[in-house]
Amino acid sequence: MRAALGALASAGLITTAACGDSGNAASGAAAGSAAAASGAATAARDEPAETDWRYTLAPLPYAYDALEPVIDAETMQLHHGRHHQAYVNGLNAALEARPDLQGMALEEILARVSGLPVAFRNHGGGHWNHDFFWNSMTAPGTGGEPSEAFASAIDEAFGSLEAMKEAFNQAGGGQFGSGWAWLIVNDAGDLEVTATPNQDNPLMDVAEVQGTPILGNDVWEHAYYVQYRNRGGDYLAAWWDVVDWSVASERYASAVED
Ligand SMILES: [Fe+2]
Repeated sequence: MRAALGALASAGLITTAACGDSGNAASGAAAGSAAAASGAATAARDEPAETDWRYTLAPLPYAYDALEPVIDAETMQLHHGRHHQAYVNGLNAALEARPDLQGMALEEILARVSGLPVAFRNHGGGHWNHDFFWNSMTAPGTGGEPSEAFASAIDEAFGSLEAMKEAFNQAGGGQFGSGWAWLIVNDAGDLEVTATPNQDNPLMDVAEVQGTPILGNDVWEHAYYVQYRNRGGDYLAAWWDVVDWSVASERYASAVED
């Protein structure tokens, strides 16, 4: 599991650190250790670098209206600028009280979240999930197709791409209250569809089904209510038009490499 996460992170497919730079927190921690080991510890502590562990909200990888007509610009603005920002703020507040976790890769925190204050589960999960979500999407009609290997694995696990989508939509629609639908590579190396409540995800040690996420769809009402109102099923069905299959295929390749 760890190796799979490492591969995803090193491929730059998920955000593991502040500022959207997967190297920042790790290198900051390494620099801090080196400084502490030398006589320069006092000076190092006075440097602004001590706040490098803070997470920031990365801009979307496309314009707010890029996903229209599947997801409208107003939803994207609120979802990214308000909801995701709140998770970033909540995660930073939780880290403020836990210097021992500052600079640790977010995946490492999520993997041990059962032993941490619930803010890490809610806000750490919220930040990771939304970063992953934004990077799973692209303008309608530009997402390409699953790679040959990924398509074969989908056929093997579900029978067809359409059957996988159906299972995924059912998982999302069947999630009581707020949560997420996921396509993952499970610990046996197979593709599987699952759902998690609230801001949980399959990287967490509290998840019923654990694995490496390949795709995730946000089924909180804030993801669709402005445009779709109570028609969550329509949102789930339309969402496939903005899935970036090249990103998903790369994630799949990394997940099964380990
Ligand atoms: Fe969301």
